[in-house]
Amino acid sequence: MAFATRHFVRAASSAAATAAAKKLIVKHVTVIGGGLMGAGIAQVAAASGHTVVLVDQSDEILKKSTKGIEESLKRVTKKKFADKPEAGAEFIEKTLKNLTTSTDAVAVVHSTDLVIEAIVENQEIKNELFKRLDKFAPEHTIFASNTSSLQITQLANSTTRQDRFGGLHFFNPVPMMKLVEASVIKTPMTSQKTFESLVDFSKAVGKSPVSCKDTPGFIVNRLLVPYMMEAVRLFERG
Ligand code: NAI
Repeated sequence: MAFATRHFVRAASSAAATAAAKKLIVKHVTVIGGGLMGAGIAQVAAASGHTVVLVDQSDEILKKSTKGIEESLKRVTKKKFADKPEAGAEFIEKTLKNLTTSTDAVAVVHSTDLVIEAIVENQEIKNELFKRLDKFAPEHTIFASNTSSLQITQLANSTTRQDRFGGLHFFNPVPMMKLVEASVIKTPMTSQKTFESLVDFSKAVGKSPVSCKDTPGFIVNRLLVPYMMEAVRLFERG
């Protein structure tokens, strides 16, 4: 009897451990910042079947973001469904159905799996946003930043969920570039489960994720800056 109980307890705790170790399948996404990058990220996420809330500071900005997304979807559809205009129209309708907007980040994060931040490139403002959202987002929610140049670790440290925090660095223009890479940035604190969930999400939105450590410039900008400096030197030498 004691053996059976021990066996049951071990099986139950191992099932719990397996469930805890399972990757999060992202279904609902909140994108904060409806500018150039945020609107693009919201578009690809909605187009790939995720429900998305796009957040910005005013309805006026969000109207502009939505209009931009509609225009971009028309361009994508023209190419993707060149011979099937009806399927194209259906694709646009479905994508827009998946997308809503809000000016209240706190009110919408309570039901989200993934928050992607794409606001102004300012450490203090981003930290303040993450700190606030950390109090309202559910336990399982992963936070990610699309920052180009700030350290992900410092952003993660403004929250209590450092293990559920990573970088998702998309490239502009998000919806158009076929070979866009989405660098998934892993800090020393990002859990393997979080990292894998972000990799899966990047693939689900049609990108080719590459893993990257939390280093200045990540991959592309780190390579790009010396490349551009060399171009300046060449120009200077005539
Ligand atoms: P953007 O200026 O086009 O858009 C930023 C948006 O964030 C604006 O609409 C602004 O109203 C909104 N915003 C600012 N503070 C906010 C807050 N507290 N709450 C809600 N919304 C807020 O900027 P962009 O170019 O889209 O860049 C966003 C982020 O993506 C930056 O961190 C940038 O470094 C990064 N990034 C930019 C790339 C680019 O090519 N522009 C490429 C890759 C990353």
